[in-house]
Amino acid sequence: MGDTASISYNGETYEFPVIEGTENEKGIDISKLRASTGLVTLDLGFKNTGSTKSAITYLDGENGILRYRGYSIEDLAENSSFLEVSYLVIFGELPTKEQFEKFNRDITQHTLVHEEIKNILDGFPSNAHPMGVLSALISSLTAFYPSSLDPNRSADEVYMSIIRIVAKLPTIAAWAFKNELGHPVNYPDNSLEYCSNFLKMMFAIPSEEYKPDPVVADALNKLLILHVDHEQNCSTSTVRIVGSSHASLYSSISAGISALWGPLHGGANQAVIEMLEAIRADGGDVEKYMAKAKDKDDPFRLMGFGHRVYKNFDPRARIIKKAADTVLAKLGVNDPVLEIAKGLEEVALKDPYFVERKLYPNVDFYSGIIYRALGIPTQMFTVMFALGRLPGWIAQWKEMRENNEPIGRPRQIYTGATERPFVNMGDR
Ligand code: CMC
Repeated sequence: MGDTASISYNGETYEFPVIEGTENEKGIDISKLRASTGLVTLDLGFKNTGSTKSAITYLDGENGILRYRGYSIEDLAENSSFLEVSYLVIFGELPTKEQFEKFNRDITQHTLVHEEIKNILDGFPSNAHPMGVLSALISSLTAFYPSSLDPNRSADEVYMSIIRIVAKLPTIAAWAFKNELGHPVNYPDNSLEYCSNFLKMMFAIPSEEYKPDPVVADALNKLLILHVDHEQNCSTSTVRIVGSSHASLYSSISAGISALWGPLHGGANQAVIEMLEAIRADGGDVEKYMAKAKDKDDPFRLMGFGHRVYKNFDPRARIIKKAADTVLAKLGVNDPVLEIAKGLEEVALKDPYFVERKLYPNVDFYSGIIYRALGIPTQMFTVMFALGRLPGWIAQWKEMRENNEPIGRPRQIYTGATERPFVNMGDR
């Protein structure tokens, strides 16, 4: 008999099992709570609630540890490629040479998207935010692959859905960008590896030869690896909960893209650059913005600071900060916004408000600066995050379905009006 935790209520004591993960994380299993006590729990923002057991990502926020399938983020960012890490998180183990060659080949063969997707794209106004376009077009894949809607598909068919979305997301993302520019789209170049192909679809123009810069492609590979998975969070839990209704992989990922879009989540990378540019345009007075961030009557927050789970440092931010210096030096970019960022970080890390609340730069604080150096426009930053997070979402969706998890359906504490009779409009 393992540990238990007891809850006393109304003169009775109830015992609940304490479950332990492989890294000794402990949680109270309250799945029988309502049946035995009539109570539910209330935990706004799920700050203390585990929604699932998962074997994909281990995150220790106090010690700044992030591992995918047991491999540290530092190790993977240094030694692996985005597609190899994608294979690892989705299928659970690093691929053998043969497995990787097949995965890579399958993806390369599915990079084209249906021509009719271009008609849908043409229907968007050119100022449409690429995240909205991306979410809509990913959802539209269900129309082109209706068999993906069958919840009882074979493992081979699920594999094909996975291959298609990993292969097509870069194409659709680049097309969403081209739509914003009002430019013709580029078709995939299957002679290039994943990141270089994406860069070419983003930046090539018909009349000129385009050769992706290996420094840029390498930096992109690293950035995408850092974003691959982050255990349960707003977008990932969205993917799992949408998928728990047996909705297709494509619709679940489309929902995840929408969840990622907000400025408190993936949208923060765009918000960080906008904030840094605003500070610069306003004379570069970092202290003024620090004061605004601390003023409870001012809705302004220091974007790129703070994290729900990292309370010491964000290991991804450390890797990115180092990479930002290297990439900027290699590309010979001198970005004044980087200086503002460094100044802001220095002041914030010493400020009691930020120290007491354990607010440190997160992954988004420096990622925007690298994206800028790579020539990626601000509106596309969150799309880049989505591109990186895709394998994590797929792995989480797959794990949830393979574990046969029940449909997600939280409870609530109702605080509205009690029963009252309808009043006719004339009498109100
Ligand atoms: N600037 C100023 N104050 C902040 C900030 C910030 N960036 N972040 C948190 N606080 C304060 C907050 O006002 C609160 O103060 P008090 O205790 O006096 O009320 C305290 O710190 C705790 O904040 P919280 O909002 O309760 O913390 P949370 O865990 O709910 O929110 C967060 C985490 C990331 C949403 C939040 O820190 C934030 O809004 N950061 C800015 C947006 C951002 O950079 N988001 C990217 C997150 S990393 C990418 C990803 O994984 O999605």
